[in-house]
Amino acid sequence: MRVPAFEALLSDAGREVLEGVDPGSAVRDQLGTASLLRSDPRVAALDPDLPVSELVNALLTQVSLRERGRAKFGDAAGRMFFTPNGLEQSTRRVVAEYRAGRTAAVAGAVPAGGSAGDLCCGIGADLLALAGRGVPVEGVDSDPLTVAVARANIGALGLSDLARVREGEAGASAVGRYPLLFCDPARRGGRGRVFDPAAYSPPWDVATGLAGAAEAACLKAAPGIPHEALPEDASAEWISVDGELKETALWFGALAEGAGARRRATVLHEREGLLAREGAAAHLDADPGAGPAPVAPARRYLYDPDPAVVRSHLVAEAAARVDGALLDERIAYFTADTAAVSPLWRVLEVVEMLPFSLKRLRSAVRALDAGTVTIKKRGSAVDTEKLRRDLRASGPESVTVVLTRIGDRPFCLLCREVGTPSPG
Ligand SMILES: C[S@@+](CC[C@H](N)C(=O)[O-])C[C@H]1O[C@@H](n2cnc3c(N)ncnc32)[C@H](O)[C@@H]1O
Repeated sequence: MRVPAFEALLSDAGREVLEGVDPGSAVRDQLGTASLLRSDPRVAALDPDLPVSELVNALLTQVSLRERGRAKFGDAAGRMFFTPNGLEQSTRRVVAEYRAGRTAAVAGAVPAGGSAGDLCCGIGADLLALAGRGVPVEGVDSDPLTVAVARANIGALGLSDLARVREGEAGASAVGRYPLLFCDPARRGGRGRVFDPAAYSPPWDVATGLAGAAEAACLKAAPGIPHEALPEDASAEWISVDGELKETALWFGALAEGAGARRRATVLHEREGLLAREGAAAHLDADPGAGPAPVAPARRYLYDPDPAVVRSHLVAEAAARVDGALLDERIAYFTADTAAVSPLWRVLEVVEMLPFSLKRLRSAVRALDAGTVTIKKRGSAVDTEKLRRDLRASGPESVTVVLTRIGDRPFCLLCREVGTPSPG
C-alpha cells in the first residue's frame, strides 16, 4: 500500500466507501467484492491520479486488517487503520492500556506544553493508550505510510488534542528530547523476526541509551530477551495475556521499581479467567531475600506457573507463596499441601503419580474413566499428540496428564482441575 492510496481512503468519500463494504462478504468473496468496488464510480473518484486497482486493493486491505485487528483491539479495530506489518507488530490493547496506566502515574515529568515521546510508534497502539490516559504524546516513526496510519488512528479515536506523529529517526539525536519516553524498537528485519537485540531497529544500545537518558521511560523488548541483555539501571516486567507470554517491558528512571524488585511477572487476562476486567493485573515481584525453592516429593496439589512467572525466573517466589516445593530443581512445577487459586498459576489436584510408561498410564487413565485428556509437559520429550492417540482414551470423565522428570527419570501425574473461584 502506498501513502496516496491510503490517504485517499481518509476523505469523507473514502470513509463512506470503506464503511459500506461488508467485511463478511469481503472475506468470503474477495474477488466478487473487488469487482463490485472496481465498478463503483465513487472509488475511481477518490484519487483520479491512481489506478482504480490500487484504490480497490487499499480498501480491501483495510477491511481485512480491521477484521484481523479485532483480536488485538476489540471493536475499536472497526474504526482503526492498519498496515499488515503495523498490525502484526502492534501491542495488543490490554497490554498497552496496562503499561499506559503505569506510565501515566509519572505524567508530571512532562512539562506544561510538552509531550511524552513514543519513539517507533508504529500504527500507534501504545501512543493511543497513553493519550487515552490524558498524557500528551508525540509519536515518531521512520516509515511514511506507518506515520500516515498512526495519524489516521489518532483522528479516528478522537485523540487529536493529545497526540501527534512525525516522521523521523529514533536515533541518538533524540537523547534528552523527551523527559517521558516510550520506545518499541522494530524486531522484524527483511527476513522475518529478529531475536538478537543488537539487530533491533534502532539497535538495543541506542534504544537503552535513549531510555536511560530520560527522566522516566519504558522500553518494550521480546519476551525471550536474555536476562544478560537487560540493562542494570532498569527493572524488567514479563507480561502475559491469557497464559501467553507477550513481551518484556523495561522500566527506567522514575518508572523503575526500587532496588530488590527488579524483576516482575504480570499476568493479564483478556478473554477468560479472574482478571478479564480491563486493566486488571496480577503481579509477582522478585524477593532478593528469597533463596532457591526447596525440592521435595510430590504433595497433593501441583502448581503450573504462568509463563510470565517462569520467564522472569520467579518460580521460587511463587512456590514460597504457598509453601510449595519443586519436584526437580530445574523444572518449574511445584507442589504444595494446599490449593490456592491465583491468576499466577494453574493448580491441579494430583490423583496419581507414576514413573512414565505408556502401558501404566493407559490403564490409569482407563481406571479414571477419562475420555477427555489434557496433556501438559515440562522437561519431557514425549510427543503429546502421539501419546494422546496411543492412550485411546474413551470415557465420560476428564483428566490432565502432566509429564515431567525428576532427575533423569520421567514421571507422569494424573490430575484433576481445581475449581476457579469467581472474581472479586
Ligand atoms: C514494533 S513497531 C512499533 C509498534 C507500536 N508500539 C504499536 O504498538 O503500534 C516498530 C516501529 O519502529 C519503526 N522504526 C524502525 N526503526 C526505526 C528508527 N530507527 N526510527 C524510527 N522508527 C523506526 C518501524 O517503522 C515500526 O513501525
